[in-house]
Amino acid sequence: MTDLSKSPARIAPMFDAIAGSYDRLNHLLSAGIDRRWRRNAIVSLRLTGTERLLDLCTGTADVAIAAAEARPGPVRVLGVDFAGAMLQVGLRKLLARNLDTRITLVRGDATRIPVAGQSVDAVTVAFGIRNVESPAAVCAEIHRVLAPGGRVAILEFAVPTTPVVRGAYLWYFNRVLPRIGRMISRHHAAYGYLPASVGAFASPGEFVKILRQSGFVEIDAAPQTLGIVHLYTARRL
Ligand SMILES: C[S@@+](CC[C@H](N)C(=O)[O-])C[C@H]1O[C@@H](n2cnc3c(N)ncnc32)[C@H](O)[C@@H]1O
Repeated sequence: MTDLSKSPARIAPMFDAIAGSYDRLNHLLSAGIDRRWRRNAIVSLRLTGTERLLDLCTGTADVAIAAAEARPGPVRVLGVDFAGAMLQVGLRKLLARNLDTRITLVRGDATRIPVAGQSVDAVTVAFGIRNVESPAAVCAEIHRVLAPGGRVAILEFAVPTTPVVRGAYLWYFNRVLPRIGRMISRHHAAYGYLPASVGAFASPGEFVKILRQSGFVEIDAAPQTLGIVHLYTARRL
């Protein structure tokens, strides 16, 4: 059986181990659609060019970069992740794009975000919330760091509910994706963990409830690409 424990001592080294092949596999396994999902998340924040944006579970900084390159984009971006090797890959990408003055990457835990209360205007989390021990604790942390009126955009996989799409999705996620992932990353556990962790994560309805209980308003869950991913958006009062 796949180990679904989310302890930082297990999750951070797993991402460190696949950091070198993470971007390539992401784009390959999603046929490049992941770029559109990240863009949609940025657009949903309705940025005006003045915001301080926090990208939580930033990994190799793809969302942070997409935000900084958006027009209008945030004035400053802080990316936080606890996997140092993922951040190293991200830093190389920032330097190659001359974005290292606008984006700062910091090693830290999403359950104890290393910034002061009400100090950011927008928060993004792409494919990270599924990996934390307590999604509710992270949502409460996001609420703490957001300034009043601030927006959050969270991307996460979901198991589609339409029978035909669900069947195709489960076949791809359980049979095809782990094989390709293992072949390219040479990491046995990580690409078995991916489908198992998606299956075990909250349904869109359950996650909306967590956001509501964390104090957010104007909550929306927008299915992306036949419902295989959901874009959750909300605002802090
Ligand atoms: C699937 S990757 C997503 C990376 C990036 N957001 C993207 O869209 O490609 C998940 C990331 O979340 C990070 N992560 C998971 N739990 C975390 C936590 N509690 N604190 C900080 N980072 C965490 C992992 O280290 C990993 O880099």
